[in-house]
Amino acid sequence: MKLSQRAIDLAESATLAVAARAAKMKAEGVDVVGFGAGEPDFGTPEHICEAGIAAIKAGHTGYPKPASGLAETKKAVCERFERVNGLSYTPQQTIITSGGKECIHLAVHAVIDPGDEVVIPVPYWVSYPEIVRLAGGVPVVVAGAVANDYKVTPDLLRAVLTDRTRMVIINSPSNPSGVTYEPDEIRALASVLTEREVLILSDEIYDELLYDGQRTLSYAAVNDDAYAQTLTVNSASKTYAMTGWRLGYAGGPVDVVKAMAKLQSQSTSGAATFSQIALATALTGDQSAVESMRVEFERRGKHMWKRLTSMSGVACPKPTGAFYCFPDVSATFARLGVSSSREFAARLLEKAKVAVVPGIAFGMDAHVRLSFATSMEEIDKGLDRLAAFLE
Ligand SMILES: Cc1ncc(COP(=O)(O)O)c(C=O)c1O
Repeated sequence: MKLSQRAIDLAESATLAVAARAAKMKAEGVDVVGFGAGEPDFGTPEHICEAGIAAIKAGHTGYPKPASGLAETKKAVCERFERVNGLSYTPQQTIITSGGKECIHLAVHAVIDPGDEVVIPVPYWVSYPEIVRLAGGVPVVVAGAVANDYKVTPDLLRAVLTDRTRMVIINSPSNPSGVTYEPDEIRALASVLTEREVLILSDEIYDELLYDGQRTLSYAAVNDDAYAQTLTVNSASKTYAMTGWRLGYAGGPVDVVKAMAKLQSQSTSGAATFSQIALATALTGDQSAVESMRVEFERRGKHMWKRLTSMSGVACPKPTGAFYCFPDVSATFARLGVSSSREFAARLLEKAKVAVVPGIAFGMDAHVRLSFATSMEEIDKGLDRLAAFLE
């Protein structure tokens, strides 16, 4: 069968591929330690599961109406934006999607025409450049300085903005680096961008997973100009351990949200109805599970980071958010006889049975990504193997 050039050109998600490979090896009886997965190892909190089950039993199994999100869920999303981010959105400014990924897809397709440029700081979440290319857009990557934990500065950003820039993606806390922009750093970026007619896609899906007393600021909360040009994207996946429920949401300019809703009406027809009812409970109900998961991720992240940075040839920014360590391992390449992050990851999996994601998938070939969304025992087992592999 003839395949479209679009499908042929599209890269498979490296993170999903690593997770699938590790799962396959496990199923074959190989004792693999998987650091690939970008999902919490906790179950969805009980009261949220109960809300989903009750919704199914009550017959909420038809199409979501409207497709862009149930009224009660949009109301819950508005309450959550206010409570956590200090952002005031009306329901008309919000949309509920099948995961944050669909939300980003819709946003990019809503504003990007062929040839339009989208600025993406490096390291980036794997899917941003591919989604931009799917829409015919041009990803323009901008690398942050090592000394600044790979965060971009206003000068770096200014240098890549052109007349064709239509969107800038900001992701804090970051997947894959785990670093978080300070409120002042967000304000500084805004000072460059508010002069321009660009949409800021602020991916804040890890905004409740912050460590070490790290503070953050929603991009849209900087000032009225920033608010007017920002689509704030979030998801239930990481905060509530709901990856399989496929729930994302966003708040932003009405025209952008309306365009996204139109695209959604011709694609997924909206997020599953009973999932959306559970989302309303997740966002407005008891939040204690969010904090207990955060505390556990913080404990694991500190431990993983300490152990990684004690290994020879490994340099790693301290994760202050999300659940990833993103060490630079390139100083070990020569001694291991490898020349890229892909080769490093393949060798590590083959020899030590440890699965990590090659940094090239995130735009940085000197690095690999390790998720600490796994038990402390698995973390120690995997790091013991990594240390032995690097010796
Ligand atoms: C930065 C970032 N944005 C968006 C997503 C999409 O997540 P989901 O579609 O599960 O909401 C992910 C998932 O890993 C992510 O890490």
